[in-house]
Amino acid sequence: MTRVARSPRVVFCAEGAPADPWLRGLADVLPDATIDAWSADGPPADYAVVWSPPDRFYATQPRLKAIFNLGAGVDGLLRSAALPSDIPLVRLEDAGMAPLMAEYVVQTAVRHARGLDRMEDDRRAGRWVPRRSAERSAFPVGVMGAGALGIPVARALGANGFPVALWSRATKAVDGVRCFADFGQLDDFLATTRILVCLLPLTSETEDILDRETLGRLLPDAYLINVGRGHHLVDDDLLALIAAGRIAGATLDVFRSEPLPGDHPFWREPRITITPHCSALTQRSATLRQIADKIASLERGEPISGVVDRARGY
Ligand code: NAP
Ligand code: GLV
Repeated sequence: MTRVARSPRVVFCAEGAPADPWLRGLADVLPDATIDAWSADGPPADYAVVWSPPDRFYATQPRLKAIFNLGAGVDGLLRSAALPSDIPLVRLEDAGMAPLMAEYVVQTAVRHARGLDRMEDDRRAGRWVPRRSAERSAFPVGVMGAGALGIPVARALGANGFPVALWSRATKAVDGVRCFADFGQLDDFLATTRILVCLLPLTSETEDILDRETLGRLLPDAYLINVGRGHHLVDDDLLALIAAGRIAGATLDVFRSEPLPGDHPFWREPRITITPHCSALTQRSATLRQIADKIASLERGEPISGVVDRARGY
């Protein structure tokens, strides 16, 4: 429970999410606040908690002091021309997602390195083929994005014996991890990577970054894990590289169009594993605590972290 000096008004508007647990949760963590479910003729609030609100939401909320996104990625919100440019937009920072993302990426990397997919094929064909795993050193992993999720993922991979590298915009120092920065070092990063993990935000700089050229610079027999956004990946380039034997396969959690349309060729490529954008879903309790603490800080006039830099796009 977070006490705030005044009694702020908080409006909740999340398309596709059941409102009641969130409204009850907000009331629990902010007992001094008034919490409303959004309606077009509802009262103006001080803070908004949103996921994919309709464009008309913003016009009905003229005095917001901050908008809290119920996710780490803000690309969806930034796409709306109706989003006011002068109100701080705050994204989730880990909020319980990092352990889930680390688990997802580590299990995918281990499954690939241990050849479990091939054993599954053997099992379907009724073949008994004991397969010796290659050493972990044969599977250097490169994580694109060294943020709230990328760094814990890199650490978890390292703890599981994988050599790990990170690529970010600014130079980082992470114990036991080779760090590369900016486009000037991208080729070097790719040239040392066999399993590529995308944990970038979707911005004008990162859209289509996983294309024929980038993926083609990876070590031979590379593998892709995309948990960032679907628009990072050029779908046809991945399919062509897999067909050519240049890329061994991929695990994809995010897609250009979600749900992934039934006629998309990814469904028919056995070397692509598909999960429905659930590698790290928003965790309600940790999210509510994080948002409540930030509202309390703002009410005390203190700065908060996680405010999106509109020029960078994340
Ligand atoms: P974050 O803390 O903002 O970290 C973003 C990282 O990307 C930073 O290290 C940043 O570099 C780097 N980056 C951004 N633009 C770059 C560029 N042009 N070149 C090189 N590096 C760049 O974000 P996060 O919380 O880790 O989340 C990352 C993304 O994961 C989200 O935006 C979302 O798209 C995705 N996500 C997916 C799921 C899922 O279920 N699939 C769940 C949560 C999040 P600097 O550190 O130098 O700024
Ligand atoms: C999920 O994709 C998120 O951005 O939190």
